[in-house]
Amino acid sequence: MKTPKKLLIGLLAGVMVVSCGIAAAAGQTAGKSRDVTDEERIEWWLGARFGMFIHWGLYSLLGGEWQGQDYGKEMGGASAEWIRHQAEIPRETYAKLAGRFNPTKFDAERWVSLAKQAGMKYLVITSKHHDGFCLFDTQYTHFDIIDASPFDRDIIADLSDECRRQGLRFGVYYSHNKDWHHRGLNKRRERPTEDYVKMVHGHIRELLTNYGQMSVFWFDIGGRWRDINTSYGELVRKLQPRCLISGRLRGRKGLEDYHQLRDRLIPNKRMGVPAESPMTMRDNWGYDRDDDNWKSVEELLQRLCLTACRGCNLLLNVGPRPDGTLSPEEIQRLKAIGRWMDVNGEAIYGTRAGPYDYDFEWGSMTQKPGRLYLHVLRWDPEGIGFDNFKTKVTSAHLLTEEGDKKLPYQQDMEAGTIEIDVPQSPPDPNASIIALELAGEITFDPSVKRDYFWHLGRGIKYHPDARGRKD
Ligand code: GLC
Repeated sequence: MKTPKKLLIGLLAGVMVVSCGIAAAAGQTAGKSRDVTDEERIEWWLGARFGMFIHWGLYSLLGGEWQGQDYGKEMGGASAEWIRHQAEIPRETYAKLAGRFNPTKFDAERWVSLAKQAGMKYLVITSKHHDGFCLFDTQYTHFDIIDASPFDRDIIADLSDECRRQGLRFGVYYSHNKDWHHRGLNKRRERPTEDYVKMVHGHIRELLTNYGQMSVFWFDIGGRWRDINTSYGELVRKLQPRCLISGRLRGRKGLEDYHQLRDRLIPNKRMGVPAESPMTMRDNWGYDRDDDNWKSVEELLQRLCLTACRGCNLLLNVGPRPDGTLSPEEIQRLKAIGRWMDVNGEAIYGTRAGPYDYDFEWGSMTQKPGRLYLHVLRWDPEGIGFDNFKTKVTSAHLLTEEGDKKLPYQQDMEAGTIEIDVPQSPPDPNASIIALELAGEITFDPSVKRDYFWHLGRGIKYHPDARGRKD
């Protein structure tokens, strides 16, 4: 730590303009602390539904390559931010990368406005990934942005300030158990030393004291030391009772505020508890020079719709380049998603999972009191309909760039069916929303069992010369 960069900025960040009339899903048993209930803590997050994940660090300099070999995810290995481990780079050799980390084009204002433009309501960045390098100013190690790199700015300070300015919630990813620099490689079976645990406690204290309100503490890969993990989670609770704790802490039961899905997977059915799906735009999380397996805007929007329809948040990743800029492919996707959200956002924000425990051939649904949103992923000019539905519909609209368009429909209350007439082509070729206004509570037979049609897989396309994973 060269100079203390920041003082405590007060614990309350600007209130976000996300409405959410939902009580937290059942099954959360974490204790109440300082008058904040589990439901209050998670309310904004459930309404937000969509956030930005950022993987950025020394590994970004290597772009997935070491000594002419590609170790990226597309090569069948772990993702590009694992390169220290995959290529077995010696500790001191890797640490020297810090001397080259000088992202002169880093512009917090630009990143946050892109997230905002995309319709994301929160942002989570890697404050310390498995390589142990800290993007924040810390007095507990010299392996941090201020002490070890020529870039004399605290990234976490810049981003948290900017998020507050632009009205986004801010959170940090923190690898609490895996730390190849401070603990060493492959230490899964060894209990972390007291010094290491002390460092983590110090980091948690710094992150929750120096940067104002933290919205999420995104612990990753908890490992087996539950007592130690519990001490980390409890410290978060004590310092900032409003800060959410992610689902990979692995501490005592109930400390985690939500369930974390496995990487790059959307839920395969409706979730009964608060949950989040961490998703990449291509294969790798960290910047990879030649990973070109980009998901299309359509594929990303399908993931966004289906996670919301299944009652889940989507945390969509970008892996900035070493100079601090996002790739043009990322910017293009963020903007396209943003354009879609401007028209269709009401079908995502503040909604909960659709009422039916199955999909429809055309897509799926979200709901709000008095409204059903049909997420039409496969357009059928013959009409969009469903059965097992006994609630009177008072109007049907198509959400379009030119505003809501009223749609004619035929409802048979006796048979429990509704058929909506739709134009020949969808307003958005990727995904279109039909909003139904309801006269009362949704009534249907919940015992009807059908399938989930929409499975999007892992989306990983390995290179023909893939070498396999070493973790
Ligand atoms: C895994 C990976 C890690 C990545 C994370 C994102 O835990 O180890 O590299 O940060 O998932 O969800």
